[in-house]
Amino acid sequence: MRVVLMLLICYLIGSIPCGYLIGRRKSVDLRSRGSGNIGATNAFRILGPELGLLVLFCDVAKGFIPVLIVNNIFGPAWGVGAGLAAMVGHNWSVFLGFRGGRGVATGAGVLIALMPWVVFIAFIVWVLVVLISGYVSLGSIIAAIAVPIIALILRVPWVYFIFAVPAPILVVIRHLPNIRRLQAGTESRIRFW
Ligand code: G3P
Repeated sequence: MRVVLMLLICYLIGSIPCGYLIGRRKSVDLRSRGSGNIGATNAFRILGPELGLLVLFCDVAKGFIPVLIVNNIFGPAWGVGAGLAAMVGHNWSVFLGFRGGRGVATGAGVLIALMPWVVFIAFIVWVLVVLISGYVSLGSIIAAIAVPIIALILRVPWVYFIFAVPAPILVVIRHLPNIRRLQAGTESRIRFW
């Protein structure tokens, strides 16, 4: 019972729609602007770098803090469960009618708490793909898919794969609109040069 309650609390923490709430302070509903996403990328795009960074920080914290606490109290298996619950909360927030973000920043927060080296290398993958392609979404998708491969190479404890395998699937599912836009050539692109 204690564990079910703990998972529910983690889901509710993940559900806090930081981007939506920060946007509303500026009278902007991120769901109807830019990509329609409530995550940090769209917050950068629509609200500017300062608020974009704030959204990023809050979304990462929603994954990092619950996992750190649960990991210490209940052990790594439940830490992993807490991470998945927070990520599901972010992607399908009870406060937004079970809609939400893409899960990249919150998933990264979970990984920072559980496997910092994995997220560090995945971040390098993300930077390279974004720099080369100009597409943040493509960087997120490829970095997410790289996570279980990096975890395998770094031989992380098997229990962490309970997060490292389904989490990228959740990220890809939430990027389906981006994938459709990438195929149609209409995805928003950053031009570095
Ligand atoms: O992490 C989200 C990013 O991959 C895509 O964001 O706003 O372009 O859909 P957005």
